[in-house]
Amino acid sequence: MTTSGTARQDRDGAVPLFWQSLSFEVEERDSFGSILREAHPGDPCFANILKRKLGRKAEARDGPAVPVHHERPRPYSKSETPSRMGIFGRAVTHDQIMTDKRHSSHQSSSRDRGGFKASRHGTGKRSSAAGPKAAQKKAAEEREAAGARHVAAESSRFLRGARIAPRRIDGTETVVQLIDGTFQAYNSGRLREAAQLFTEKMLEPDVTVGMTLTGALTPAGLGMSCLIPLIEAGFVDWIISTGANLYHDTHFGLGLAMHRGNPTESDVVLREEGVVRIYDIFFDYDVLLSTDAFFRQVIRGREFQRAMSSAEFHWLCGKYVDERGRVLGLKDKSLLATAYRCGVPIYTSSPGDSSIGMNVAALALEGGKCLIDPNQDVNETASIVLGAKRGVGKGTAGKSAIMIMGGGSPKNFALQTEPQIQEVLGIDEKGHDYFLQVTDARPDTGGLSGATPAEAVSWGKIDPDRLPDAVVCYLDSTIALPLLTSYALARRKPRALKRLYDKRPALMERLKAEFRKANA
Ligand SMILES: NC(=O)c1ccc[n+]([C@@H]2O[C@H](COP(=O)([O-])OP(=O)(O)OC[C@H]3O[C@@H](n4cnc5c(N)ncnc54)[C@H](O)[C@@H]3O)[C@@H](O)[C@H]2O)c1
Repeated sequence: MTTSGTARQDRDGAVPLFWQSLSFEVEERDSFGSILREAHPGDPCFANILKRKLGRKAEARDGPAVPVHHERPRPYSKSETPSRMGIFGRAVTHDQIMTDKRHSSHQSSSRDRGGFKASRHGTGKRSSAAGPKAAQKKAAEEREAAGARHVAAESSRFLRGARIAPRRIDGTETVVQLIDGTFQAYNSGRLREAAQLFTEKMLEPDVTVGMTLTGALTPAGLGMSCLIPLIEAGFVDWIISTGANLYHDTHFGLGLAMHRGNPTESDVVLREEGVVRIYDIFFDYDVLLSTDAFFRQVIRGREFQRAMSSAEFHWLCGKYVDERGRVLGLKDKSLLATAYRCGVPIYTSSPGDSSIGMNVAALALEGGKCLIDPNQDVNETASIVLGAKRGVGKGTAGKSAIMIMGGGSPKNFALQTEPQIQEVLGIDEKGHDYFLQVTDARPDTGGLSGATPAEAVSWGKIDPDRLPDAVVCYLDSTIALPLLTSYALARRKPRALKRLYDKRPALMERLKAEFRKANA
């Protein structure tokens, strides 16, 4: 890549030979110029520098200010770290570095460099915020006056990210184009990174994807619009959800209606009208009564009269929601029903904390034996993650990805699988491989919802080597999830369903065997 600059005069007004055919940036040349003013031509150091840096390349030209063409230095290779590079970005010998160091030691003080450490800027000859400010300012003004094109030095490794130059929006762009091309920075930048992480790494065939759901997602229709398509495409292999999301999902599976409303309506008036509100969603109070009655009827059945994991409980509920949907002629309305059909196990971290749990508890008062056993949940979820890493059934190691919508207790329930495997069961493991979270929660309150992936590393939840594959988007998940879903479905073919629900016995056997071996 070539850029143009302006050759510069020395003190006597002549253009030194070396200004005229060199390969370096305008700023670097100015920086080098300041060296020459300090190193007298009679100084052997001066001669050495000239000889070494210029070789036989210099060609004389006359005139006080001559526009020249020069090539931008190539980026550093791995073996050419800045400290091993010469003034013009060429590899230099140890002796040359020592000569440069001697030279630069009387070149400028820390104060001259604006307080920057010299080591941060190598020999101080690369353009940087350090260095003589007046000379830099003057050089920029000279370039402007000469009509030379300004070129920023881009050799820093920090400047290797794509240049910000989004395509003009014209109404024809797809979600993929918007995310890849328009979402440049801030939270849109994180969403782009999340979409790319999800699509390019988490959806590889050897990755098992666990998703956690908090926040009122299903009431807003995200079960139908996003979660069902993701499950059917094989993009989500297991789920941990609040009971609330599964309870409200069931309204749709039973053909009950939720409506767009507004957040400013009087709640006293709504109560008088028998209307229930979730922010700007309205629904009839009878939706709750009908859904409660459905769950009680189902849970009274014989197959529920025992202790079971929440995955079993939701699988059984899903079976009945699916059946009701078929009777009513409903298709793809319920997350529970779709997960049942696709063999996607759904766990809940706090079974009592929802209307479903409230109905289970009510049935216990009339002698019901249904019990959702948290011990089974803790071990089953750990067995899924261990199986993901060991590659149960495939004979090859795999990876574990966690995709977190919101935060809350489901977030921890998914992430604690790794400390359960390592710290509690004593099985050697390293942590989840991929971490994607969409949340509104802050890290500085110390709460789990806002805890960063880096903090999770310290608990053994995330593999420290995989930290670059962790993205947190500070966004409303009701906006992020549809975009992530559309992006993934556009960019990836469906994956084969892993049907982890059916594999639970084998996965538990693997966990037990490794536990016994580790503790023998
Ligand atoms: N009827 C029921 O069964 C029942 C029971 C409990 C809760 N609920 C309702 O269900 C909803 C969900 O409750 P919850 O337990 O998930 O707690 P929550 O809504 O407080 O969410 C938990 C975490 O997710 C984050 N979060 C929530 N919404 C988000 C969003 N849109 N985008 C990004 N981050 C978000 C929050 O910051 C928090 O960290 C609430 O509206 C609650 O009133 C219903």
